[in-house]
Amino acid sequence: MTTETHGTETDGAETERTADAFVGRIFEASTGMLDVMSVYLGDQLGLYRALHGGGRATAGELAAWGRIDQRYAREWLEQQAATGILEVDDVAAPAEERRYRLPDAYVEPLLDLDSPFSIAPLARTVVACAKVMPKLMEAYRTGGGVAWSDYGPDMIEAQGDFNRPWLVGSFGTELLPAIAGIDERLVADPPARVADVACGVGWAAIAIGRAYPKVRVDGFDPDRSSIDLARRNAHDAGLSDRVTFKTSDVANAEAGQYDLAVIIEALHDMTQPVSVLASVRRMLRPDGVALVADEKTEDAFTAPASTTERLAYGFSIFTCLPAAMTVRPTAATGTVLRADVVRRLGTEAGFQSVERLDEPELDMLRFYRMTP
Ligand SMILES: C[S@@+](CC[C@H](N)C(=O)[O-])C[C@H]1O[C@@H](n2cnc3c(N)ncnc32)[C@H](O)[C@@H]1O
Repeated sequence: MTTETHGTETDGAETERTADAFVGRIFEASTGMLDVMSVYLGDQLGLYRALHGGGRATAGELAAWGRIDQRYAREWLEQQAATGILEVDDVAAPAEERRYRLPDAYVEPLLDLDSPFSIAPLARTVVACAKVMPKLMEAYRTGGGVAWSDYGPDMIEAQGDFNRPWLVGSFGTELLPAIAGIDERLVADPPARVADVACGVGWAAIAIGRAYPKVRVDGFDPDRSSIDLARRNAHDAGLSDRVTFKTSDVANAEAGQYDLAVIIEALHDMTQPVSVLASVRRMLRPDGVALVADEKTEDAFTAPASTTERLAYGFSIFTCLPAAMTVRPTAATGTVLRADVVRRLGTEAGFQSVERLDEPELDMLRFYRMTP
């Protein structure tokens, strides 16, 4: 994600407390939600890709390229132009003859999943939350949960795609080398072993395998569909021989074998973070390191909060907390995992030191280094 997208300003949260300002804010946000869902349609139906490939299109052409109904194509194109996403050649032309195009500047945000500007996955995660609303309502009433797998491919794939730009872009090549002690071990002999714990669809494991040609990486995640996709991603990257994945947590992982374990944006999702961290500590060699990336939270609760923290709370109420409420007992930390809580979890798991790293800096996540 780009810094421009997620500043630390409170933005819309700090509105004047009048009925007028509040109505305006929610009206604007609702229009924004409709934009988000329209982006989901364009993304998941392949309409943006069809427009990018085909150039200026009429409703009939887009319907044919995207294999969708022509009447829906026309309405979606009009909505996209009306909301300022697509450009239209001649607004005065008859509806069926009007031609629409995807502006060049929006190609990367909408179509390039490796780009730091990629934004379609965020829209997809928001829609994934909306899709499980009846289950969420039920969980809120009963104190139950909504399993991560219940959010389906929209959440599972889009979560991976959301972190993918920085993972494939700079994790292995810039961020890890900037953290003292890690790069030296990953380039040394005998070849290092790395664990990607809660690996999701595998981009961190793949990034490390690609940046360090000797290392072996094992990804662990209890979600089968994530592991299936992680395997496909590693295969497509030509790394299946050194980057492998297991549908399991790390409770029974080999002890004392790993030089590095990473947990990327997942500690706050765990029902038993202390026991997972204790397993990670056991997996590491005595001189190994655990690197945890989790939300870049404020040090204490604050309201109104920054855009980054608002986004984290938004996903907390719709995804991360409900997913962590599926099992009892549960730590149920919620997404907004503050630095003092990470320190406590690491210490309770038996790590000798838990260090908050403010460098290297990411827009939405912060690194913590834990040593056994
Ligand atoms: C928000 S996703 C992050 C996935 C990935 N690290 C990424 O950055 O895209 C959280 C992941 O934690 C996994 N998870 C939850 N509890 C776990 C546990 N006890 N052990 C390992 N993984 C777990 C979930 O299945 C899910 O894939």
